[in-house]
Amino acid sequence: GELQKNGYDHFMLKEIFEQPNTIEQSFKGRIKTDNSDIVLGGLHNVMPKLMDARRLIIIGCGTSWHAGLVGEYLFEEYCRIPVEVEYASEFRYRNPIIDEDDVVIAISQSGETADTLAAVKLAKERGATVLGICNVVGSSIPRETDGGVYIHAGVEIGVASTKAFTAQVTILTMMAALLGKERGKLSLEDYRVIIQELSEVPEKIKTILKTTDHIRKVADKYKDAVNALYLGRGALFPVALEGALKLKEVSYLHAEGYAAAEMKHGPIALVDDNLPVVVVAAKDRYYEKVVSNIQEVKARKGNIIAVVSEGDTQLDKMCDDIFEIPRSHPAVAPLLTIIPLQLFAYYVAILRGTDVDQPRNLAKSVTVE
Ligand code: G6P
Repeated sequence: GELQKNGYDHFMLKEIFEQPNTIEQSFKGRIKTDNSDIVLGGLHNVMPKLMDARRLIIIGCGTSWHAGLVGEYLFEEYCRIPVEVEYASEFRYRNPIIDEDDVVIAISQSGETADTLAAVKLAKERGATVLGICNVVGSSIPRETDGGVYIHAGVEIGVASTKAFTAQVTILTMMAALLGKERGKLSLEDYRVIIQELSEVPEKIKTILKTTDHIRKVADKYKDAVNALYLGRGALFPVALEGALKLKEVSYLHAEGYAAAEMKHGPIALVDDNLPVVVVAAKDRYYEKVVSNIQEVKARKGNIIAVVSEGDTQLDKMCDDIFEIPRSHPAVAPLLTIIPLQLFAYYVAILRGTDVDQPRNLAKSVTVE
């Protein structure tokens, strides 16, 4: 059952392993079986607003905010709509400029985060259309919103969010593809390619989940580090942020996520032969740029752990350790690249002996501000 560990040592590991299934639950019944179309019933009433929206504002906290950042790249790329992503806590207190042409999307696993709920209420008061991307059915945020999509990830117990993140990103990918097609910015052909790619994600994640022994070995090598740096570009920059957050939350190692090119403006000062640098380097249009960033770290003797596309021999030679993911379309790369990073954080944590399901000082749901 959902509330048991079902043979796994921790809920976090169980939830990481559930992802092929939970992602499928997120798109099941919403992607036509012949992969020709996406149907999101919870957006039906707000579709006219989405068609005319001049701007999307995505709000959330923690991991949900990271999912929102992935969403920013997807909506801008496929719908050509300007997107802003904000921490709910900042949005609500800075007298935000919003009007009736804005659609606000609140992302929250629990649907109860105090800051996100307050931000939703504020956006509504100011006349925006507000949508929710939530997990807990009937929770406070979905009750306040004009529409939205449940992620259907099932109960998440591990305090560090894993399966909710990939389900949120799955929904955002579907929303961006659907809206891009409806607004005439995404060709029918490309739309169908994205749907097809999404439908293949569960199987590809199963392949990654077979590499846990290797990920555990790499975790063992770096478990005594003091700091770690995570780098990525494009939609994989938020994946780097989320990977760093996972490590921080469960292992108590200090980790920082950075946009790879921005490293030169600060974090590069930290690079020495004691610093693990995790680089998210799937094959996409940023790939060559990421390779140069890796060279910059290498020249300063940093230890590189790279998440790469299968068969990437170039980085194989250049990096200390490699986590391979199956080849995919860039639209679904965030869903695949985060998996080894979740596992890496998990193994570093258990090797350090922390309580991964109940990390100190953290709460599953932050219902006070
Ligand atoms: C807490 C949890 C995180 C979560 C964040 C936002 O900090 O520990 O895992 O990402 O709240 O929660 P929400 O339920 O709004 O997604």
